[in-house]
Amino acid sequence: MAGTETDLNPQEQVAAANKAFEQEFERFVRFTAETAPTGLSLAEATADERALAELRTRHTGKKSALAATKKLIGRVEADQRAAFGQLVQSTEAGIVAKLDAAEASLKALIEAHRTARESIDVTLPGRRPRYGHRHPITLMRERIEDIFVSLGYVIEDGREIETDFYNFAALNIPDNHPARGTQDTFYTTDGFALRSQTSTVQIHAMQRRGVPVRMIAPGRVFRRDTPDPTHNPMFYQVEGLCVDRGITMAHLKGTVGEFLRRMFGADTVTRFRPSYFPFTEPSAEFDFSCFKCKGSGCRICKNSGWIELGGSGMVHPNVLRTVGVDPEEYSGFAFGLGIDRMVGLMYNLDDIRLLFENDVRFLEQFE
Ligand code: DAH
Repeated sequence: MAGTETDLNPQEQVAAANKAFEQEFERFVRFTAETAPTGLSLAEATADERALAELRTRHTGKKSALAATKKLIGRVEADQRAAFGQLVQSTEAGIVAKLDAAEASLKALIEAHRTARESIDVTLPGRRPRYGHRHPITLMRERIEDIFVSLGYVIEDGREIETDFYNFAALNIPDNHPARGTQDTFYTTDGFALRSQTSTVQIHAMQRRGVPVRMIAPGRVFRRDTPDPTHNPMFYQVEGLCVDRGITMAHLKGTVGEFLRRMFGADTVTRFRPSYFPFTEPSAEFDFSCFKCKGSGCRICKNSGWIELGGSGMVHPNVLRTVGVDPEEYSGFAFGLGIDRMVGLMYNLDDIRLLFENDVRFLEQFE
């Protein structure tokens, strides 16, 4: 035969293409519908499936030896052409049938693997869901809220980023006060301050609600403190404010005393010491008798019998004036204390930072 690229005649070329296929297909012979091999892993079956697909392309694709023989049909002598065409066709059909059978077998095997993997053993013991619970600071905040709500107070939500007005000026904090410095307070690049105390909410509350008002405002505050066992740059406070006609220091002492008795027990004694805060006049810090030793002295109260808790005082007339309240007509008291500090005391934590690290092993002890 003139003009062919090989020494083989067309029939021999078909036979050679078939033989080459048979050789490579050898390893897939075991995959037939009747005899799918056992003990084949999902990964192995998947790899075989891929190899089989490649083999199909190699032996039946456009560039295969078999495809080349199809081009010979037109060149075969006219009297042999029909027979040769049938030979090519039946050879191809044989190859495709074998490929299809192996492929179907492999696919079934892979499917069986997947089904087995996804099936569940209903006899296995179940996994118990782990219920979460509230953070100790949240638990404490809610206890405080419950007490004050029962005393007729509303709960105010404040904002954590404040203007100079709310964080300082309206609270009667003078321009040269150290708290205003970037040493002590975090500022945003455009001059807002992260509130350094919840006292800011006193201003918002009186502006929004007017007077009389009784509110507490729990929330986060921020100070540029270096973290240590008793300091964290972010912590929680609760602010209290009561403004009405005829409010005196006696109301302050009565309210704080009642709160602490409900919190730490009916025999809790409260003590006020003179102090200074710009937004109150007079100002006082308050302590309560140690809930552990009841005042006789122990490790928690550092043998003093007293635990220092917060600041308080009678709302400064300037603060009232700033929000348009006449200090001749109204007066009020305010107080503020640290929630996390209270949690630390009650649970005798040796490091306040444990409350902010969110280590589940620590937190799960407070359910
Ligand atoms: N804001 C004060 C602080 O962070 C605590 C405080 C003191 C709040 C006296 C008050 C108050 O409302 O009257 O240290």
